[in-house]
Amino acid sequence: MKRPVATTLSRRGLIGGGAAAAAAAALPTRWAIAQAKPLKVGLMLPYSGTFAKLGENITTAIELLIAEKGGKLGGREIQIVKLDDESKPENAPQNAERLVKRDAVDVLIGTVHSGVQMGIHKVVQDSGTLTIVPNAGNVAVTRQLCAKNVFRSSFTNWQPAYGMGLAAAKKGHKKSVWVTWDYAAGAESGAGFKEGFEKGGGEVLPSLTLPFPQTNFQPLLAQIPSLGVDVVGSFFAGGGAVQFVKEYAAAGLKAPLCGSGFLTEGTLEAQGAAAEGIETALHYGDGLDNAKNAAFRKTFKDKAGRDADVYAVQGYDAAQLLALGLEAVKGNIDDEANLYKALRAAKLESPRGPIAMSPSQNITQNVYLRRAEGGQNKVIGIAAENLADPGTGCKLA
Ligand code: PHB
Repeated sequence: MKRPVATTLSRRGLIGGGAAAAAAAALPTRWAIAQAKPLKVGLMLPYSGTFAKLGENITTAIELLIAEKGGKLGGREIQIVKLDDESKPENAPQNAERLVKRDAVDVLIGTVHSGVQMGIHKVVQDSGTLTIVPNAGNVAVTRQLCAKNVFRSSFTNWQPAYGMGLAAAKKGHKKSVWVTWDYAAGAESGAGFKEGFEKGGGEVLPSLTLPFPQTNFQPLLAQIPSLGVDVVGSFFAGGGAVQFVKEYAAAGLKAPLCGSGFLTEGTLEAQGAAAEGIETALHYGDGLDNAKNAAFRKTFKDKAGRDADVYAVQGYDAAQLLALGLEAVKGNIDDEANLYKALRAAKLESPRGPIAMSPSQNITQNVYLRRAEGGQNKVIGIAAENLADPGTGCKLA
């Protein structure tokens, strides 16, 4: 691992650095000192902009899990360093470098935006820093660019959208169009929807797009009536999703709106009646009846004063993964072989139900079909059971 020297007191470094006998004698004490140091966890997340609430919920849930474990994971105190990435891809490499080099974090948890994730990925592929992706779904990170030190606790953009495509076709819809922001998450979710919808015999027209994070939806909505589609699929999230759903309802279009579940996730209160009846597919939903979910929703609400959502769940599971890995190596993050072995074999009770790490280090999970009703995304079925991303091009032994 290429981590900055100052951050890591590794066994190898100690033995190589001085007379072998002296090092051996000094080892237990210095080793104990290294282990006694807090483990630095960098959170690179959006705390401003259209995805600000997503970053906040991820952070709150991470802090919740750490508090549940008494402030220590694998015996190590945890020190959190936060950085607002503003969902700006152009600043991402520099921001990630700041955490990895200047702040010398041992672990990086980030981020939400797929474009920003690419910036993080370049940096951590080089530094070898253990990285857990708590949202961003860009497929490359766990397909062709997969890396042994990068794990995802969330989804790929393909997963929920593919489930939605299957479900929309099953409902009897025949012709659709995908409306989205023009960036990786929009394009990859559009491709997933198309694959699922076509598998069920439907046809998908070329996507209607606008640049991220713009919200000038009217020119796109104006094109829909003449397309002859009987359902419209969509990827938007956060503040942008609130506005899109309201404007879609106000436009009075005949075709029902559906999408990756982010469209109505954590947004229903703000969307109000405009969201009523919208069907979406996601790896989480309201009313999932398992003990972990009940306990999680209660403690999250007590801490945050608002309801948990998929972002909170993914943050909690990022911290659950980190806990599992650190427990396997008793806090010795330099024991990479055993750390990665434990993470690759991870099976967790998540508030979303049982989940497992896939061979390309993404989550295998159910994708639920939900309908927005009375301020809840009610689970009405399973769109795709135990769905793994294909992980195409990833070669991790
Ligand atoms: C992404 O950019 O990958 C992304 C952002 C927000 C979401 C989902 C995916 O809710």
